Formats: sequence, C-alpha cells, structure tokens
Amino acid sequence: MILTKCLPLIWLSLLTVCAGRPLYPLPGKEPQTGKLPLQTSRPYNIAHRGSNGEIPEETAASYLRAIEEGTDFIETDILSSKDGVLIRFHDVILDETTNVATYKEFADRKKTYEVQGFNVTGFFPFDFTLKELKTLRTKQRYAFRDQQYNGKYPIITFEEFIAIARDAPRVVGIYPEIKNPVLMNQHVKWPGGKRFEDKVVETLKKYGLAKSPPNRRCYHANTRH
Ligand SMILES: *[C@@H]1O[C@H](CO)[C@@H](O)[C@H](O)[C@H]1NC(C)=O
Repeated sequence: MILTKCLPLIWLSLLTVCAGRPLYPLPGKEPQTGKLPLQTSRPYNIAHRGSNGEIPEETAASYLRAIEEGTDFIETDILSSKDGVLIRFHDVILDETTNVATYKEFADRKKTYEVQGFNVTGFFPFDFTLKELKTLRTKQRYAFRDQQYNGKYPIITFEEFIAIARDAPRVVGIYPEIKNPVLMNQHVKWPGGKRFEDKVVETLKKYGLAKSPPNRRCYHANTRH
C-alpha cells in the first residue's frame, strides 16, 4: 500500500533530475554511434542557413545555435573558392553578407560577370582563394536583425559544415543546396576535369552521406530560398 503510493513520487523525482540535465551541450564532440536518432513525432524542422535571424547566416555559430535550439536538419548553400574548395555561401557575390568592401587589398577584385543572363557586379567568391575568403568576416543581411555578431565569424567550408552536424550530440541531418553550377564550372577548374557537381558528390561520399538518393535541389542566381 505504501509502496503504491510512493511510486508516483519516485517517478516524479527521476523526471526532475533528468530535466535538469543540459540536453545539447556545445560544442558536441560525441561518437557517431548511439546518438539519439532523428525524431519522428512531428514534421522535420530544417534550420535554413542556421539560426540566421539571430546570428549571420551559414556561420558555424548560426548552425550551432540552431542545433542548440533543437533543429532536425541544418541547411546550406554551396559555392566554390578560386582554388576549388567548396564553401558554404548563399549569394553569388560576397557584398551583402561579408565585410569584403572594407578590404583595400581586395578592391580590384570587384568584377562584373554575366550570371544567368544578367550582368552582376560585386566580389565573387571564385576570385578569392580559400585563405583569402577566411580573412573576411560575415555580417547580417538585413538591418532589422540583431547586428551584434557582425564582423565576428568567418565563412566556413562545406566540410566544416558537415563536421558541425556530425559533432552534434544527437543525429542532425544536412540539407545542402548546390548554387550556380554553370557559373562555378565556368570560373573554377578542378584537377582531372572534375566538375563542381563531382566535388559535391565526392565530399558527400567521403562522409558516407551518399548512400541514399539525396534530396537534390539546385538554384541559380537571383533566387531567394
Ligand atoms: C553585360 O555587359 C557587357 C559589357 O558591357 C555587355 O556587352 C553585355 O551585353 C551585357 N550583358 C547583359 C546580359 O546585359
């Protein structure tokens, strides 16, 4: 009789202990096995460019924040540096979301190229090596967003993006989007005649992510997704 009355109390105290545990400690460095799988109790939550309302889009900090907030997938856009390294960046030019315009040494990189039938002027990522791109810092796209993280975070590579998902303390999926493949293949040459698309698939395979048909999405310039 006493035991029956006590049981709910014991359960309650167990629940209290569990709720006090930090759910998603950052940065996650846990093994790939034995992780809490993707939840199936509700539609997936896909963090589009990370938690970009709070922190400049597609930075490590914005993805880590989205994971901390409970996202199921993190989404990104893929472009290439001049030396053929896949980076995650949304726009075909660096102008709106980085401080590139403040670098005197890069002033002569401002170019006009024809992109999908339009002349676009600005700083194109494929005119910069990865090392040069890494010196830039990101900023918010819109003035109404929190500006306190402007100038703090660098551009990250596609592989760094994958590592963030892999290091999450539970299973977090990736949702990559290939940007402007025609333009990338016009301006970037990879050894062995490889193309932009080959490099993306090669990277996915490297991390065992190409076993099932990926959800393929590809957008060109002047789209806002
Ligand atoms: C882009 O600019 C070049 C040089 O001024 C011009 O020849 C070309 O017609 C322009 N293309 C478009 C699509 O406006």
